[in-house]
Amino acid sequence: MLSRENNQLITETGRDTPLGRFMRQYWIPVLRSSQVKPGAAPLRVTVMSDQYVIFRSPNGEVGVMNEACPHRGASLAMARNEENGLRCVYHGWKMNPAGQLVDAPTHPADAILHDIKTGAHPVHEGQGIIWAWLGERTNNSSPPKFRALAFTDLPDSHVITATAIVNCNWLHPLETLWDVFHAQILHNETNRNSSRGKAYFSNAGRRTDSGVEFDYPEMHAQSTDYGFSYQNIDAAKKTHFEFILPFIQHHAIAPGLTADKGLQISVPIDDDHAMLWIIFYNRHHPLQPDGFALQNLASIPNLDNFLEELGERTAENRWGQDRAAVDRGESFAGFGNKKTMLINIFAEDLAVIESQGRADRSKEYLAPVDNALVKGRKTIIDAVKYFEKGQLPLGRDSDLTNIEAGFEVDRK
Ligand code: FES
Ligand SMILES: [Fe+2]
Repeated sequence: MLSRENNQLITETGRDTPLGRFMRQYWIPVLRSSQVKPGAAPLRVTVMSDQYVIFRSPNGEVGVMNEACPHRGASLAMARNEENGLRCVYHGWKMNPAGQLVDAPTHPADAILHDIKTGAHPVHEGQGIIWAWLGERTNNSSPPKFRALAFTDLPDSHVITATAIVNCNWLHPLETLWDVFHAQILHNETNRNSSRGKAYFSNAGRRTDSGVEFDYPEMHAQSTDYGFSYQNIDAAKKTHFEFILPFIQHHAIAPGLTADKGLQISVPIDDDHAMLWIIFYNRHHPLQPDGFALQNLASIPNLDNFLEELGERTAENRWGQDRAAVDRGESFAGFGNKKTMLINIFAEDLAVIESQGRADRSKEYLAPVDNALVKGRKTIIDAVKYFEKGQLPLGRDSDLTNIEAGFEVDRK
């Protein structure tokens, strides 16, 4: 249970909110690289309720700029993508990728233009991801160095990424990863029917009175200097998870030391939508067709919207639930039959988390298995308050290259 004040603090990310100021201190993944073609129309992207355009110059350089033209605010989504910059179609101002005005037909030919600048943001590109740093730079201060993660030095053959927009607050996808226990119930049949099913259940656990067999875990969570880590230990397995502030979650996807690993990043679009990133990688070898990553993502037609097949999810259609399958006793939750196990899992997750709406966390009854969830919320609240007191944003400058999830099964 959370006070209303803290509920607001961990969900609202506009420019003038404490969390919004805090999140803008970190590098943020904004688009998959393959979406941004050289010389093509700039793409409109909303991050934490602010509008940007992202483009690739004809020479291949990526720019992330405020959408509004600095002259009188026309959208630079319509701008011409010329050599060395965007040219607004209204009065022809041209800004280079650093945001500097370099040509202005509105001014005398000999006018000095160099003190006119628009918001242009530092960019890092790698592993098929465009990252931007969207913080304020006071007195031309430098942005923080790009923060490397466990996969950011790997060749492209070792990494696969996918994105989708989800219709809920940015915190919900993270909360559902902190809430490991729900995989025993909501995802029970999807996990049992999957390649990791054997590792997932002991087959000697408890049963609901309707016959769903599950393993009741021990959960442990500890603070780290970049977020928190937690373990889920049950009769079948021991899994280990790492949360990295402000929005990165390494989560256990497949058993074994050299198996593929995964993380999700939940980036607020506004306070009711988020861009969800899936990143799967393998540090030991290129991704293999029989590994978790390719088994689940290679057949997805559109990795820029990997949830396309789920279609509309609303209260009117019970968030896509196949009620007839539940009534016939064929399915516990009624979200099966998707192309891959991963999409099945997301169909189940999104139905429940989108149905929560603007969750009022002051009205919850939390259970013992919610302890990592409690830890996650507290981690964010404490980090934001610490930053608001003038301290450095936690973990922003940490070495995170060896931080990742674990999934052990040899427990018997
Ligand atoms: S509004 Fe863009 S040049 Fe005038
Ligand atoms: Fe889930």
